Amino acid sequence: MRAASVRPVALVTGSSRGIGLAVAEALAREGFAVAVNGPVDDAELSAAVARVAALGAPVAAAPFDVTRVGGHDAALAVVEEKLGRLTTLVNNAGVGVLRRGDMLDVSEESWDRCLAVNAKAMFFLSQAFARRLLSRERSPLFHSIVNVTSSNAVAVAEQRSEYCASKAAAAMVSKALAVRLGREEIAVYDVQPGLIATEMTAPVIDAYRERAEQGLTLFPRVGQPDDIGALVASLASGRLPYTTGLSIPADAGMLIPRF
Ligand SMILES: NC(=O)c1ccc[n+]([C@@H]2O[C@H](COP(=O)([O-])OP(=O)(O)OC[C@H]3O[C@@H](n4cnc5c(N)ncnc54)[C@H](OP(=O)(O)O)[C@@H]3O)[C@@H](O)[C@H]2O)c1
Repeated sequence: MRAASVRPVALVTGSSRGIGLAVAEALAREGFAVAVNGPVDDAELSAAVARVAALGAPVAAAPFDVTRVGGHDAALAVVEEKLGRLTTLVNNAGVGVLRRGDMLDVSEESWDRCLAVNAKAMFFLSQAFARRLLSRERSPLFHSIVNVTSSNAVAVAEQRSEYCASKAAAAMVSKALAVRLGREEIAVYDVQPGLIATEMTAPVIDAYRERAEQGLTLFPRVGQPDDIGALVASLASGRLPYTTGLSIPADAGMLIPRF
């Protein structure tokens, strides 16, 4: 067991289920203290906290809506009161579109929602996190921001254009953060999952599974949340030394150009 003062501390947004929960669990296995987040303090969040706690890691519930930018710093302060100084922010919270379909029919409501959760929130939460770190002397622990964007940061999904736009924005925010925070030795990564079986993709995963088996992905299968959890935990643990600003496709080779 590490001493509390040298244990890395991570906040994982949107970790009440799916990829975020798998990231929280993988970080706990790596020895991180973990703050588990969802927009509200509900049974799903409590169950997620219990799963992470069962791994033996210090854990805290951190219920807050990431779109409430004015509450970010207070939310980070509460996490630090409970778990100690943050070393790691994983911006994972995300939403899909309100309705799949022709971009000519996309509503302003769906556009605003995608941009608010998937791009604006991670920009400002990263800003609050970075300000906090820069305001004090940091421990020699590895410090990083890992953003979970999407293959749709680069590849168009015709039926989800507003989601694609939000993820492209998030990928650029990752690059800008890497540039700004490099001189502070805070690493920034952009993880771009492809087809992962979660609640978000539940309505379409069977169709994707079939396409994966037919060659859409180079490994003929869809991914699992634990695949992304292990990848994010590796990055957040500093296992890619002397790197920052990387965009990492976590898509079983889906986007490699082929003919
Ligand atoms: N699954 C895939 O194939 C795939 C592929 C590429 C990228 N991604 C990205 O991976 C991330 C996780 O996706 P997932 O598949 O695990 O989705 P998911 O199962 O729908 O989980 C999304 C999580 O984000 C939370 N969340 C949503 N809005 C929030 C807000 N305003 N404040 C705080 N938390 C909020 C959700 O909590 P509530 O349910 O309580 O709202 C939930 O915990 C997303 O950014 C998604 O875009 C997923």
